[in-house]
Amino acid sequence: MTEKTAKLTYGDMELELPVHTPTVGPDVIDITKLYSQGKVFTYDPGFTSTAACESTITYIDGGKGELLHRGYPIDQLAAKSHYLEVCYLLLYGELPSADQLEDFESRVTNHTMIHEQMMFLFRGFRRDAHPMAIMNGVVGAMSAFYHDSTDISDPWQREVASIRMIAKMPTIAAMAYKFTIGQPFVYPRNDLDYASNFLRMCFSVPCEDYQVDPILSRAMDRIFTLHADHEQNASTSTVRLASSSGANPFACIAAGIACLWGPAHGGANQACLEMLKEIGTPDRIPEFIARAKDKSDPFRLMGFGHRVYKNFDPRATVMKQSADEVLDLLGVENNPTLQVAKELEAAALADPYFAEKKLFPNVDFYSGIILEAMGFPTSMFTPIFAVSRTVGWISQWKEMIADPAMKIGRPRQLYTGESQRDYVDIENR
Ligand code: SDX
Repeated sequence: MTEKTAKLTYGDMELELPVHTPTVGPDVIDITKLYSQGKVFTYDPGFTSTAACESTITYIDGGKGELLHRGYPIDQLAAKSHYLEVCYLLLYGELPSADQLEDFESRVTNHTMIHEQMMFLFRGFRRDAHPMAIMNGVVGAMSAFYHDSTDISDPWQREVASIRMIAKMPTIAAMAYKFTIGQPFVYPRNDLDYASNFLRMCFSVPCEDYQVDPILSRAMDRIFTLHADHEQNASTSTVRLASSSGANPFACIAAGIACLWGPAHGGANQACLEMLKEIGTPDRIPEFIARAKDKSDPFRLMGFGHRVYKNFDPRATVMKQSADEVLDLLGVENNPTLQVAKELEAAALADPYFAEKKLFPNVDFYSGIILEAMGFPTSMFTPIFAVSRTVGWISQWKEMIADPAMKIGRPRQLYTGESQRDYVDIENR
């Protein structure tokens, strides 16, 4: 098949640029030689039109509201699979056989404990620290404890680091939570599945037995599954860029955690639930919608809008079903926050402003309602997102490190500062 090309003419320059054809999605004009041949840059702050890499892991069709992991639609994975099987799929590219899944789950289960000396790191934080601050510090500190899996040039060390990150993130997140509420840490158990282990490490206390509610562990597993990976979002791009310098995987995942914390990204689930509580009752919804539309007001409807989805976020659709199920089973189907959420969603979707700007509920709109109903404080919402997204960060990291074309990321700029000028001595200023 003849290679497709794009012609760029600028002044007396005419360049023929190669065009790459994806499996699905828009064609990609390759500008890697643009500066060397044309001595010009492109300008795309926020990367709204720029493919930063080639990937085979996740694909989003923002117009149709579709999300595929290695080709499998998220709604099918949420209904039929479970988080560790999705982790295997993201990491290795195919759904596992029964033996492969058993081996993978065993490897993860047997890496859930953290180095005992890391306990002392938690004691250095104030009790009122945000759990994300603690996670950021502790995950970065893993570079100081797991030296036998920091050499990224060694495929075996990359594999060990991957399993360790996926296995230890729930333990670290649960410990961050326990530390902030002044309760003792709870060790993971090897006879529990991933989601049940996390719930038990968060909610059990030494004074009594703790039985994990299978409905809640299923809902927790579904939340983990829905947040696992999402193409080149801000935190994944942060992990890729940090990793491109050759930094060790623990430090790079800590960079991803830092980026995810922002309210425009993974911090939106906490901000969304706090917004729903501030609204309080359905009669105050018009006031907040008016504020979201007011350009002079920085307020935005948290949990609405997305850089890529210009249709429903398919994860929000699944999450909404889960919210109904969990609240119904917990006997809190009349949860006032859920009522406000449903009426806010209806009011926003009926408002021309949101329809024109294609602002729909995203993954963060309903997740907080479920997490709150399960007993988590809002400060634990983003740590839970980070636990889930670790497999996405790691999968994308492994893909990039193994790519022979990988080079250090080093964007250029549109410089509009001062041209060269001479230093002025202070007595002459
Ligand atoms: C996640 O990238 C990913 O994949 C992220 C994620 C993942 O899984 O990794 O999906 C997870 O981060 C989901 C998004 C969570 N964030 C929020 O819910 C915060 C609220 N949403 C907005 O901050 C915003 O919608 C973003 C950040 C999500 C997207 O911003 P964009 O694509 O940069 O869009 P924009 O800021 O350029 O807004 C376009 C227009 C603007 O109006 P105009 O200047 O054109 O007049 O839409 C308006 C914005 O003012 N707008 C909103 C709005 N979001 C955008 N107006 C009111 N409320 C909002 N929520």
